[in-house]
Amino acid sequence: MSEIHLINHPLVQHKLSIMRDKETRSKDFRELLKEISIFIGYEITKDLPLEDKEIETPICKMTAKKVSGRKCAIVPILRAGMGMVEGLQTLLPVAKVGHIGLYRNEETHKPVVYYCKLPEGISERLVILTDPMLATGGSSCDALAMLKERGCRNIRLMCLVAAPEGLEKVRREHPDVDIYVAAIDQRLNENAYIVPGLGDAGDRIFGTK
Ligand code: PRP
Ligand code: URA
Repeated sequence: MSEIHLINHPLVQHKLSIMRDKETRSKDFRELLKEISIFIGYEITKDLPLEDKEIETPICKMTAKKVSGRKCAIVPILRAGMGMVEGLQTLLPVAKVGHIGLYRNEETHKPVVYYCKLPEGISERLVILTDPMLATGGSSCDALAMLKERGCRNIRLMCLVAAPEGLEKVRREHPDVDIYVAAIDQRLNENAYIVPGLGDAGDRIFGTK
């Protein structure tokens, strides 16, 4: 069974509370999401394998530690997942970035795919799939299935706020994928929005409502 990593660092909780406030404007919302993404990214990358490399400091030669292997890929679920990319790129500046476009049908709440562009050789990389909102779990589960169809085997799901329903669905359908999240909220409402949540993350990031 996959693990749920709850990132309850006090600064993350503080920043998330400001994001939840309906008076918080897009500019601040985006900046806070970027900052929180760095904290969550720190946890996600905590066990990246290191290897020894010979280098020379201005003083002498030494054996230094460097991240080994083919490194990482970041894959945001459009649109809201884009809000977590810049923070992750601060930590992983050479990571390749793919995009999966999904939107939820407003009546059925089921995800609809409209775009997929992934970097070559993604199956060799650790993939960090980003989406701040894990509500019913439909979007994340479909995106995870798309990544697996392309051979990805080492995937971590990075969210901000999750509903218990979404967590359960992802864990049932993708038991190999660990989930990193800053808050587990109470439930979904009749429109499949997270309660108390923070509203529509895409609209709040891009100012579309
Ligand atoms: C939101 C959110 C997730 C999805 C979560 O996207 O960013 O992708 O809903 O809901 P789920 O877990 O029930 O699938 P939305 O469809 O509103 O698209 P947007 O990001 O383009 O606004
Ligand atoms: N998508 C969002 O942006 N917010 C929710 O609460 C649920 C789905």
